[in-house]
Amino acid sequence: MSQNEQKMLHKLRQLDLSLPDLMRIHEAFTSELHAEGSSMKMLSSCVHNLPTGKETGVYYALDLGGTNLRALRKELPHGKIDMIKQKIPKYLMSENASGNELFLFIATVLLRLMTKHNEHKAAKNFPVGFTFSFPMRKTALNSAFLIDWTKGFQTPGVVNEDVCGLLNMMLKNLEIPAEIVAVINDTTGTQLAGSLKHENCRVGIILGTGTNAAYYNGHEIINTEWGGFNKALPFTQADIIVDENSPNAGKQLFEKMISGMYLGEITRLWLMKVLGPKLLPNFTEKGSYESRFINVVEDTTANLSQVQNFLTQHGMSNLTFEQRQIFKTINEKVLFRSADLLAMGLFSMWKDMKLPEGMHINVAIDGAVYAKPGYQNRFKETLKKLGVKNVGLEMVDDGSGTGAILAAAAALKKPQVSKL
Ligand code: GLC
Repeated sequence: MSQNEQKMLHKLRQLDLSLPDLMRIHEAFTSELHAEGSSMKMLSSCVHNLPTGKETGVYYALDLGGTNLRALRKELPHGKIDMIKQKIPKYLMSENASGNELFLFIATVLLRLMTKHNEHKAAKNFPVGFTFSFPMRKTALNSAFLIDWTKGFQTPGVVNEDVCGLLNMMLKNLEIPAEIVAVINDTTGTQLAGSLKHENCRVGIILGTGTNAAYYNGHEIINTEWGGFNKALPFTQADIIVDENSPNAGKQLFEKMISGMYLGEITRLWLMKVLGPKLLPNFTEKGSYESRFINVVEDTTANLSQVQNFLTQHGMSNLTFEQRQIFKTINEKVLFRSADLLAMGLFSMWKDMKLPEGMHINVAIDGAVYAKPGYQNRFKETLKKLGVKNVGLEMVDDGSGTGAILAAAAALKKPQVSKL
């Protein structure tokens, strides 16, 4: 290994977080869970009625995340979910679109699904749960005022508006027989979906395009919006550049070190810094290294042949074995830093819940980054190092969509004993 490469590898240590580092961040995180004017919004979800698993009837759900819009239909209790998934056109997220266009797009996807089931001309409105994965101020289950766009969204005319009211107006104007009866965050949805499967599901976590967590405080589910946490974070130059180039500079700093929308670019900036544009000419452009490429960490072959194949597929094949090793290390360090910070977040919430000694709780998790190779092992190892005990981690597939169906069903009935 050349001296220069060794120097660069040394620099990569900036991505490592020691236990004392994590404890320092944890202290700041804990204060923010209670601070006045905190960088975490700690929002009420207005979800008091929880699903029992005994709900019946046909329900629809809409799930607007960071990348895709999904419309779902399910006949409770045991029907199969039918779903349409559509990528959200970049234009609709941009400053040039209008809220009206965005809500028209959402309503149209729902109409497609209802038409497929021949329910688009029904005389009565079908109840719909709406997962809106952004920070919103709520005073009722069916009203939600957007506080700020996060992730890639900048669509004008929606901030400070009631997204439930806007969508219901659009459905009415288009004569679609459907009404949004519950709006929830995806973390809340994930926790609801988890609570049907497991007793004591106290936390819902999302780790996809963005990251966030919700927890049950004994009365209702609180949406922490932990992606906004901004204290004591160990930024590297790559993190600073990623933030500066984002549509919401200075905001969502925890999210930008952890979630899928940013991990690829952080990795790319480190690759450029350490291996350089000469070796990796096809990754010199911003956004050219996608988060999914980080799956190269899976390569356990002795000569890193999978890394080699990946690079060849992307038109770059002249890295030596040592350089391929550095390539893999960079991907791994960015991914593991994310897992360590996520573990710190869960550890802090777990401690803050002050559960009775020995009480077992479950945590529902959804999102593509959590599903990445090696991620869960690292996350669990770090939780253990931090001292987390009696916590079951449950991957909930499509928690946010299913959760919206459950929230809609729960919204229409009188309060019942919950499974939480
Ligand atoms: C962003 C949103 C938050 C959402 C998370 C995961 O952080 O602000 O509401 O839960 O992304 O999708």
